[in-house]
Amino acid sequence: MDDSVLSQNKIDELKRRKEAAQQGGGEVANAKQMAMGKLTARARINALLDEDSFHEYDLFAEHEARDFGMERKVLHGDGVIIGTGTIYGAPVAVFAQDFTIAGGSLGSMHARKITKIMDYALRMRIPLIGINDSGGARIQEGVNSLAGYGEIFWRNTISSGVIPQISVIMGPCAGGAVYSPALTDFVFVVDKISKMFITGPEVIKSVLGEEISQEDLGGARVHAELTGNAHFFSESEYDCFEQIKKLITFIPWNNTQKARNFAPKPPKPEYNIASIVPADPKQPYDVRDVIRCVVDDSDFFEIQPQWAANIVIGFGRMEGRTVGFVANQPLVMAGVLDVDSSDKAARFIRYCDAFNIPLCTFVDLPGYLPGIDQEHAGVIRHGAKLLYSYSEATVPKLTLILRKAYGGGYIAMSSRHLRADFVFAWPTAEIAVMGAEGAANIIFRKEITEAENPDEMRRLKVEEYKNKFANPYVAASKGYIDMVIEPEETRKMLLHGLQVSNAKQADIPFKKHGIPPF
Ligand code: HXC
Repeated sequence: MDDSVLSQNKIDELKRRKEAAQQGGGEVANAKQMAMGKLTARARINALLDEDSFHEYDLFAEHEARDFGMERKVLHGDGVIIGTGTIYGAPVAVFAQDFTIAGGSLGSMHARKITKIMDYALRMRIPLIGINDSGGARIQEGVNSLAGYGEIFWRNTISSGVIPQISVIMGPCAGGAVYSPALTDFVFVVDKISKMFITGPEVIKSVLGEEISQEDLGGARVHAELTGNAHFFSESEYDCFEQIKKLITFIPWNNTQKARNFAPKPPKPEYNIASIVPADPKQPYDVRDVIRCVVDDSDFFEIQPQWAANIVIGFGRMEGRTVGFVANQPLVMAGVLDVDSSDKAARFIRYCDAFNIPLCTFVDLPGYLPGIDQEHAGVIRHGAKLLYSYSEATVPKLTLILRKAYGGGYIAMSSRHLRADFVFAWPTAEIAVMGAEGAANIIFRKEITEAENPDEMRRLKVEEYKNKFANPYVAASKGYIDMVIEPEETRKMLLHGLQVSNAKQADIPFKKHGIPPF
């Protein structure tokens, strides 16, 4: 027999097998998926990765379930695609669950494929991107499915802080399908398509007798605005993939490396740093415009913009290098710290610290938000997360006080006392235990109430307190502030601080790990 004919037959068989295995849940199921405005799992991977860069593994994997009629079911690839590829040339490991195959539910082979690619990602020290579209633990496979999730959660945790882990929610994800994303660094959601809940509407109806739609229970907006589970919200799947690609450009492959350097670009000339912050400390402004004045090309990539908007977090580049920004937002609740904003900033600080990204903190806040709601919601515990994360961070920490830095807010926002490397202040900075009016009312209460003209006395005492503390010079006289600078000098000073601290060494005592106020 002719050898070449034999091998051609083998190749034809391989092609046939590949074609069959790549059809997902079949034409009808795929059409249903697309009618919902969703791409197929395979199309998603192709849209995310560099053209022709995807290499798939375990395409021929088969499930081993033998109960509840599963023995008769063919589930191609067991409902998940795994592989490696590149984004702008950077290697990434990827899995994409296929909802057209048994609702993307996770049986034991499905889990083995995901854990295999997670192991690759950790071993190769490259980012892991999971596209989740799954009804959670495959009910027919019982404890085997639960075991699979346990294996995934363990790997998410062990990989945390070693490689970037990114989750994309692209369907009705339930149960374990949302706990794995919750353990990862960044969660992306798409309007109308993403749903995340532990128990779906049907379970809620049968247990509690309450009716609620998937969208209202855990739609993309719910998680982008209300729960803070999502970090990036998009209008479409394609926009979502563009955002993921952009994020990849800002972060390193792993915790032993720095993010890629880009060609430096100046900020756009339309952003004028001297004209953004109003002189009146009661007037709001958008702190993101200040950030845009200092970052290359005025390109600020904001994270969680819709949730806890009283604090702003995100990435920008300065002279081509990634910097993490944390800034109070005077536009929202005067930029106060509260439960959610402390949570939001603390987690981001830990991310930057884990992945060698220097931190720039812009301060303008009246302190922590007072109130029964906040106290009972645990502002002590959540607020402490911010103190903890700034204190333990050893990446370069640069702080700029724009206007108000009152009370606990002054300390918490990367103060000298929490080991900021450089603290700068504008001449408009006010550093005090609290605002002048509140302070005068408390410490001069007797003088004010006993005065012939209490209003005039209050005005005088407020003035006295302001003259003493509503400036940066008392703090500067103690070395708590390194330099009072003009707004126009900001980028230059920050760039110099980043340059000087590029090889920073900071010692912390040996420990297995700390015990942050989770
Ligand atoms: C097996 C499942 C499944 C599951 C969905 N399917 N979820 N099969 N196990 N968990 C199947 C359906 O039977 C259906 O199959 C197909 O997927 C599509 O599902 P639909 O219900 O038609 O889709 P939709 O109306 O969009 O609803 C999606 C859904 C719903 C909200 C996800 O299917 C649902 O509530 N599923 C169960 C969710 C759940 O409770 N999972 C277990 C969580 S416990 P056919 O053949 O009809 O097309 C868990 C443990 C880990 O995950 C916990 C860790 C802490």
